[in-house]
Amino acid sequence: MENSKHFVIDFDSTFTRVEALDVLGEISLKNHKNKSGALKKVKDITDLGMEGKLSFRESLEQRIETLQANKSHLPELVDKLSAQVSKSFIRNKEFIRKYSGNIYIVSNGFKDFIVPIVEPYGIDESRVFANEFEYDADGNIIGFNPDNLLSQNNGKPRQIEALNLEGEIYVLGDGYTDYEIKKAGIAHKFYAFTENVRREKVLENADHEAPTLDEFLYVNNMERALSYPKNRINVLLLENIHEHGIQKLKEEGYNVEVHPAGMDEDELIEAIKDVSILGIRSKTQVTQKVLESAKRLHAIGAFCIGTNQIDLETAQEKGIAVFNAPFSNTRSVVELVIGELIMLIRNLPDKIKSMHEGVWDKSAKNSFEIRNKTLGIVGYGNIGAQLSVLAESMGMKVCFYDREEKLALGNATQCSSLAELLGMSDVVSLHVDGRPENKEIIGDKEFSLMKDGVIFMNLSRGHVVDIAALKKHILSGKIIGASVDVFPEEPKSNQEEFISELRGLPNTILTPHIGGSTKEAQKNIADFVPGKIIDYINTGSTNNSVNFPNIVLPKLKDAHRFIHIHHNEPGILAKINHTLAENNLNIVGQYLKTNEKIGYVITDINKDYEQEVIKSLKDIKGTIRFRVLY
Ligand code: NAI
Repeated sequence: MENSKHFVIDFDSTFTRVEALDVLGEISLKNHKNKSGALKKVKDITDLGMEGKLSFRESLEQRIETLQANKSHLPELVDKLSAQVSKSFIRNKEFIRKYSGNIYIVSNGFKDFIVPIVEPYGIDESRVFANEFEYDADGNIIGFNPDNLLSQNNGKPRQIEALNLEGEIYVLGDGYTDYEIKKAGIAHKFYAFTENVRREKVLENADHEAPTLDEFLYVNNMERALSYPKNRINVLLLENIHEHGIQKLKEEGYNVEVHPAGMDEDELIEAIKDVSILGIRSKTQVTQKVLESAKRLHAIGAFCIGTNQIDLETAQEKGIAVFNAPFSNTRSVVELVIGELIMLIRNLPDKIKSMHEGVWDKSAKNSFEIRNKTLGIVGYGNIGAQLSVLAESMGMKVCFYDREEKLALGNATQCSSLAELLGMSDVVSLHVDGRPENKEIIGDKEFSLMKDGVIFMNLSRGHVVDIAALKKHILSGKIIGASVDVFPEEPKSNQEEFISELRGLPNTILTPHIGGSTKEAQKNIADFVPGKIIDYINTGSTNNSVNFPNIVLPKLKDAHRFIHIHHNEPGILAKINHTLAENNLNIVGQYLKTNEKIGYVITDINKDYEQEVIKSLKDIKGTIRFRVLY
């Protein structure tokens, strides 16, 4: 680092997350009869000073008087403050040490506690400029050294001037007194640090906002813990995504913008230009045209189950990973199936309707227990398999049919054909996926194969059942109870009427596609999808991605990680390794996975590399995208 650059860093609410005198108050006023009142007074005075509404000296005098502190309180204070160093400072400890020769801590706080906290970061006493307490014979803090420049109004600029530094001075701080250094014409640039507090008046006067130390190091082109500051990752969330999900992405440090509604194609094309992560639910159509204009997009989170609304192929060709929440609402669907199954087998829908019409029809006709009945599950995926476990634990016998070989859970048995399952089941429940080939897999022929008096349930997809045939077999009495949650055509909004031949049929439960709609499922989705995206950004893991080869990666340790996404053509891995070998780079781990279209190679290498390597790797023919993590 050149010696002509000097970094002046504030202490309270910048180096540490808190104001030290507030913490001192917590200790010194522990037994005060009006502790909360006194602490509030200290805070209020601090804020007035920070905002430039009270002269600094007055604020300091008033706080010291209110605090009634003693030297014996300081060790506890140091302990507490050490545990409250700002997260991005902790993350960059190694780099702060590296630059310590260029750093000055200039604070209106007190050397007595600042020095022991910054020393482990390589900053020694000679680089700390701050006030000094004055004690009486009993160690009571009775004031401060009035000759210290930092106890005086406009102290920070005066102190820095007195240092006679040659070269450029960059100031990082959260308060008005930090800005004063710039105002006095001494600093080259003032960065408002907003990781812990955000003061509008300070921001207004700043050259640049630094939401973390990473950003400060990044814009000054200095080595740092994160290759790309997270606040520079723009996230756009549409369609009223659950607050929990928004919070998770904000906590990660991303710059999150939220739109309650969806966006049409044109709006999205405009909005997506600088976006790195897009979050949607089922309505927003992410078309090829949208993806063409999404030059910085790395990942799309579908905060739902389905991903038909996204052009997955184009996303893949552009190196954009798509994640969804495939089993966040599995349990919700299964619980509803169980509940409805019992209702249907007791003929409850008709009984409930009669009661509301004033008809008392007490009889056991068409009422059965579920115990020992055979449940036939068509489609033994996430939902089918979970249903199998719950149904069996309630005493049902379970058989299933899946187009693929599946592990049978518990005592469930796998049928070799759909016909076999239909012929032996007292209850048939569909849980297949929505692939186009599944259109009307259950029609007149399949209903005819079922037992007389069967119960039929579809909470999977609307188009898999021939509705006219279902109606026919309900009316004929072959099916004595049916529940349908999904329909070939569903209303687009709650304002639209639900039109279906199934309305008004006996012992038939119709529900508005709510199988997976529970608060828990919403929360699970909001947890799951951001988790996958954050993992992808931080480590390159593509576990559960819908359109990328799935790789689960170990955390990166003391190495750089090169992430290379390319068209699946022969020889690319060889070219990558050739480039690395030519540059004498030692591979400490390498992971490759391909699908039909793309290859995904992760290479971890020992610490140092030249920028030239990056260029050569990017230039390999067939490269879609390249990213470095460290
Ligand atoms: P999944 O993909 O885990 O399981 C589907 C299973 O069906 C797979 O094992 C697949 O091999 C099998 N399959 C596909 N076609 C088949 C066929 N013709 N015959 C036999 N087996 C076949 O899906 P998951 O998560 O279990 O969901 C199942 C269905 O439930 C999906 O259609 C999904 O859209 C729907 N769903 C409905 C909800 C609602 O609100 N009603 C909520 C959540 C999911």
